[in-house]
Amino acid sequence: MREFIERLRNARSVVVLTGSGISAESGLPTFRGVGGLWRTHRVEELASPAGFARDPELVWTWYNERNAAHRRAQPNAGHHALVALETRVPDFTLATQNVDSLHLRAGTRSLLELHGSLRVARCTRCDHERALDEHGLPPSEIEHACGGLMRPDIVWFGEPLPQATWRRAVEATERAEVILVVGTSAVVYPAAALATRYARDAFVAEINPEATAISERVGCVLRGSAAETLPRIVAELDGAADTLRV
Ligand code: OAD
Repeated sequence: MREFIERLRNARSVVVLTGSGISAESGLPTFRGVGGLWRTHRVEELASPAGFARDPELVWTWYNERNAAHRRAQPNAGHHALVALETRVPDFTLATQNVDSLHLRAGTRSLLELHGSLRVARCTRCDHERALDEHGLPPSEIEHACGGLMRPDIVWFGEPLPQATWRRAVEATERAEVILVVGTSAVVYPAAALATRYARDAFVAEINPEATAISERVGCVLRGSAAETLPRIVAELDGAADTLRV
């Protein structure tokens, strides 16, 4: 922990990669954990182009529920701590796999949403975009006037990541001195490769209550929840942890 804090204190370039675990303490389920979304739902039905082609209404019903849950949730202390970290680092990039907009709502400015977001629906044929409110997209409005179908503007399995966003994430990772991986099982690619394949000389630290696919390959593992650990890290950077002791 001490080496990590020192590296972070001196780093000019930092990349943070987050996954659904950072939103767990905001009340949103992860994908693969206990009670996770992929434990009870079929990925290929809900998060693939083939599933959408088969039953767009089922897919929208599910994403409308998730969209409503995202909007009911509030950013937690982990999201806020990353905003505080951003103000301390000259070259800061937060790459998230989450589509819940909680980093944006917390106030992170240098944000790359690798898997898109649920704020927008997009036409499969003409790319027309429509902002979603808390009601999402009513089933009666799935068909677009051009003959295409409105779909969530997120990345499904088998699809490429938004190319400009991905490129920026790779470039930031290549120049990063510290990479912090928070709340992701690190099994979904290419996002997981940011912490392994694309990192050059970076010191990589992981915050996760459980072991992940990359735990053995990182320089420092902080076993704990995001909402507890990230504010502690910021307090350490401020020197507060040196004075606030019992
Ligand atoms: P996973 O469900 O695979 O992993 C969630 C991780 O969060 C696990 O490693 C947990 O141990 C950890 N975790 C749980 N509670 C936590 C807490 N309070 N603080 C910190 N960590 C905690 O979710 P992701 O890694 O985000 O993609 O999954 C990656 C992608 O797979 C998602 O973006 C989604 C999914 O399918 C798409 O839908 C395209």
